[in-house]
Amino acid sequence: MVSEKGLRLTSPWKIAGIAAILVLGIVGAGALFIYFGAYDVAADVPHTKLVYWLLDTARDRSVAVRAEDVHVPPSLGEPVRISAGAGLYNEMCSSCHLAPGMAKTEISQGLYPAAPELSRGTDLTPGEEFWIIKHGIKMSGMAAWGKTHNDTLIWDMVAFLRKLPGLSPAQYLALVKSAPEDHDQMMKMMNMEGMDQEDHK
Ligand code: HEC
Repeated sequence: MVSEKGLRLTSPWKIAGIAAILVLGIVGAGALFIYFGAYDVAADVPHTKLVYWLLDTARDRSVAVRAEDVHVPPSLGEPVRISAGAGLYNEMCSSCHLAPGMAKTEISQGLYPAAPELSRGTDLTPGEEFWIIKHGIKMSGMAAWGKTHNDTLIWDMVAFLRKLPGLSPAQYLALVKSAPEDHDQMMKMMNMEGMDQEDHK
């Protein structure tokens, strides 16, 4: 049997009231935490383990879910794609992600989150690499290259990234040398030839 008092204690209004006070308390504490600048955004002070795990997991899941619909072209193994990608990588990416035989640059040492050394390999799928290069990653130095580069060029970079792990410094330099001289010219050629038709997510 439930006593009259028991009923009153567990009345829905009381529970709703306590829940509302708790939620307001948490939101208020969060607002104060932000207002007083308690979280250190300095790039030379690492995140706490919990914050790092949360951000890392959120990024990985965000990319994985969005990359599911990316259609991977079958031509990633073609040598022309790989050498074009090598030229683009050397020009635009190596300052942060480094390359075989390349000494650490100033920017690569100061970035946080750090730019992974892509020659060490990643566990990303080609679709995930494409998505990251095209859209970039918020609150990191990784830009959205899709704003200025068509999908064809981005797939060329993915084709090269698949080959990068395991390249010796000499093989890397040879691939870069085999690329078209200047990537602006390459983009113009592609637009003229109507080669920018590969449109992916
Ligand atoms: C200004 C520095 C900078 C440049 C230039 C840059 N990136 Fe990045 N990139 C980053 C940072 C920092 C991250 C890590 C972001 C994170 O962990 O949230 C990253 C992440 C990535 C990743 C995901 C790696 C992984 O294992 O999670 C790929 C792939 C990548 N970049 C490719 C490229 C390519 C290709 C280019 C050239 C077109 C490029 N990046 C240019 C800073 C840069």
